[in-house]
Amino acid sequence: MAPRPTPADKFSFGLWTVGWPARDPFGDATRPELDAVEAVHRLAELGAYGITFHDDDLVPFGADTATRDARLNRFRKALDETGLVVPMVTTNLFTHPVFKDGGFTSNARDVRRYALRKVLRNIDLAAELGARTFVMWGGREGAEYDVAKDVQAALDRYREAVDLLCEYVVDNGYDLRFALEPKPNEPRGDILLPTVGHALGFISTLARPEMVGLNPEVGHEQMAGLNFAHGIAQALWQGKLFHIDLNGQRGIKYDQDLVFGHGDLLNAFALVDLLEHGGPNGGPAYDGPRHFDYKPSRTEDMTGVWASAEANMRTYLLLKERAAAFRADPEVAEALAAARVAELATPTLDPGEGYRELLTDRTAFEEFDPDAAGAKGFGFVRLNQLAVEHVLGAR
Ligand code: GCO
Ligand code: MN
Ligand code: MN
Repeated sequence: MAPRPTPADKFSFGLWTVGWPARDPFGDATRPELDAVEAVHRLAELGAYGITFHDDDLVPFGADTATRDARLNRFRKALDETGLVVPMVTTNLFTHPVFKDGGFTSNARDVRRYALRKVLRNIDLAAELGARTFVMWGGREGAEYDVAKDVQAALDRYREAVDLLCEYVVDNGYDLRFALEPKPNEPRGDILLPTVGHALGFISTLARPEMVGLNPEVGHEQMAGLNFAHGIAQALWQGKLFHIDLNGQRGIKYDQDLVFGHGDLLNAFALVDLLEHGGPNGGPAYDGPRHFDYKPSRTEDMTGVWASAEANMRTYLLLKERAAAFRADPEVAEALAAARVAELATPTLDPGEGYRELLTDRTAFEEFDPDAAGAKGFGFVRLNQLAVEHVLGAR
């Protein structure tokens, strides 16, 4: 039995996740549209604490002011009734044909100006609903053809956009930070800022880098063959994990958006351990929303949708429980010590030591026996097997 999710677990869901009618490039919708008000109530009943949305999930693109106000009022009322919060808001700059070459980095300048206006309007709404994070997933910011996109100019325009949005937030006194969401491809052949690393590099060039962090998604790093838990460790290490999209992905293929844990389960275990406890040597942990960005598979009806929503939270809580058991196991402590995991937290140089002192330390080189050191095993396999056995519930 997994513990039941409660709002203290800070689980949140995108309205577009449970609300996905399962239309894909090859087939029609298999489920009816889900009313946002029903989504709020069902998620609250399941124990979630938050709901997030793109502007167009809540109010149809191009709706008139009366429709927009009516939709927002119904949604606000549902939030009040359930106590669900809106920790994050995002903008859709990818569905409408106008964004076919991107929003902030479209070759067409008038499209870029329109995209900025769309986002500015949605930032006002995010602030009004009390969101603290504004996610920017640039799904259409990219190209299929190398000769058709000046990538350096596109990055100039991307930076121009993010700098402008930061200035707007500061000038309006909003308590809001931006989180960029990397993805290597899909829907574009290649997307700009494709990985955590690319996005971190980009952020360091911004006018207000402290206002911009990341919203990494499990499957997106795994689509690029990367280790998600490693990417998250670096994001935490740089103070840049502002938000996270949890889901599952099986290998380098299309973006599967499976339920959390339904892809690389061992990496999901390492991830939950990291988010909950920080690194094994006391590195920073994560206290933001545990946000699920998944797609209930097209094979599921509405009963299956709610079962899959629950599955995300159950898997997270079970892995949290398994991670705690792993950390508390004396045999694990012993295996960690044998694997010298804590030794990595000791600086390589002594206090006050520099290269001059290192050069005079004969034990570091002249008297060091690399063959003897090279012959000793680290015992990492034993440690990993203990992790596997904890995940399997065998310990
Ligand atoms: C994806 C993306 C999107 C974004 C979302 C937020 O699966 O390709 O995750 O779902 O997270 O649109 O803007
Ligand atoms: Mn995805
Ligand atoms: Mn996402």
